[in-house]
Amino acid sequence: MSRARTSDLWWKNAVVYCLDVEMFLDRNGDGIGDLDGLTDRVDYLAGIGVSCLWLMPFYPSPNRDDGYDITDFYAVDPSLGSLGDFVVFLRTARDRGMRVIVDLVVNHTSNRHPWFRSARASRSSPQRDFYVWRDEPPAEPSTGVVFPDAEDSIWTFDDKAGQWYLHHFYSHQPDLNIANAEVRDEIARIAGFWLELGVDGFRVDAVPYLIETGGVKGDVDLDPHGVLKDLRAFISRRRGDAVLLGEVNLPPEPLRAYFGDAEGDEVDLLFDFPVMQAMYLALARQQAQPLADALRARPEIPSDCQWAMFARNHDELTLDQLSDEERAEVFAAFGPDEDMQLFGRGLRRRLPPMLGGDAQRLRMVYSLLFSLPGTPVLFYGEEIGMGENLAIDGRMSVRTPMQWTDEPAAGFSRARPSRLRRPIPKGAYGPLAVNVADQRRDHESLLNWMERVIRRRRETPELGWGRTELLDSGHEAVLAHRSCWESSEVLALHNLGAEPVELRLALPTDLPSEGRRAVDLLDGRADEALVDGRLEIKLEGYGYRWFRLQGEADTTTP
Ligand code: NOJ
Ligand code: CA
Repeated sequence: MSRARTSDLWWKNAVVYCLDVEMFLDRNGDGIGDLDGLTDRVDYLAGIGVSCLWLMPFYPSPNRDDGYDITDFYAVDPSLGSLGDFVVFLRTARDRGMRVIVDLVVNHTSNRHPWFRSARASRSSPQRDFYVWRDEPPAEPSTGVVFPDAEDSIWTFDDKAGQWYLHHFYSHQPDLNIANAEVRDEIARIAGFWLELGVDGFRVDAVPYLIETGGVKGDVDLDPHGVLKDLRAFISRRRGDAVLLGEVNLPPEPLRAYFGDAEGDEVDLLFDFPVMQAMYLALARQQAQPLADALRARPEIPSDCQWAMFARNHDELTLDQLSDEERAEVFAAFGPDEDMQLFGRGLRRRLPPMLGGDAQRLRMVYSLLFSLPGTPVLFYGEEIGMGENLAIDGRMSVRTPMQWTDEPAAGFSRARPSRLRRPIPKGAYGPLAVNVADQRRDHESLLNWMERVIRRRRETPELGWGRTELLDSGHEAVLAHRSCWESSEVLALHNLGAEPVELRLALPTDLPSEGRRAVDLLDGRADEALVDGRLEIKLEGYGYRWFRLQGEADTTTP
């Protein structure tokens, strides 16, 4: 791909920011974040430099799974605003040069969706076959249950319907029957609607469950991956540059399948759950090896596809791909109390409290995340180091209101704090200690640091586009990797350990070594000279550096 055409695959060098409208900013003072509030903060988001906003579900919903239980795919929940407000927001974001993607949650509906109401009412309902029914639940292992705290089976008997229905998630979220062609048409219609309004793509919820036909009775003549290929083809016809960002928490090989064939004809971006989980093991051990192994185990992916990198998403920080012993190590390091853990497989904390508030280590982790090959995805509040509120049940502990100021309702709302849908944390991570307003004024704050790193990440397309290679750092705590793209090379060093280290790094540079130097890309430190193609450098505990390897004739990096 020539430089001139890189913007076609804009997501390869994007910085994505995930937010929940309900928790971002409440303009009308009713205690609930709204689209108007989000529109007011578009300039803040443009200012920190994120280039793509991912909106968690904002559709009408009884809110029993924070909006992932939808009753109308074509509207905005009235508590958040109107469709008109959505278009104003979209228009504003686009004007500021930002892309917007929205959650496409079509594995299931709310049980209050008109389709399910009709389906359960009568066997002759036109929507009966939109869902998956059985006279008797098949004997199945409980491993299919996603939320084991609330459900013990993926089948529930419905009195009205007189049959059992399939639901991989909560029982109030009946799974749609993807084997039904009308359901697939409805999904295309929904995607087409939002594309027509101007969104730039979708974060696709629960993809493996969406395409699975396991529970459907009888012979199903449907290739699950064909469903994704059809959806991708449909979307490409409507909007060639629209992106599909898939949620698929699987090990590397099965995960690879979701990119599609060699050309990449299914999902464009996949969250890298295996590398994310290995990163936490590496952090817990203060050793680069688990992360290096996971990066090496990554399958080759089509050139038009990309990994989405994240330290934290809105759910529990799942560690389900680690062995029991490895998970126990991560729990011990970052969430030793049972109350910090969830479903025996994950953590319900945000990163800063997990790291005991260590500012240097926190920055090292984000530097690492931004330097790993892929597209970084931030969860709102990460840019200021927000913490969780463990007083809130389950996964919602990390979905508290955005902290804008040091006021009691954190500048999120004019309403009394007691009227907010979720309580703001108190103490070391409460708004008195962590808020945007204070950090704006402090040049050394996490917010200003994050803004600088985001800018640098966007200016470093080698990381999004290049081929990455792990180097032997000679020290077990240090991950060293370089990314080469066209005639340019970037080197990143991360010390996962608390102790300072001295490195002597042989650089297998593809470029002539004559007169080359390592130009510092972060934090404005001095450049380093290469001696005989070697870099000799000290890294402090949890130190991190990025360099562009530059010859005398190259354009200077500012
Ligand atoms: C995955 C989402 O990330 C999660 O928040 C949601 O509860 C389930 N899918 C069900 O939609
Ligand atoms: Ca409001």
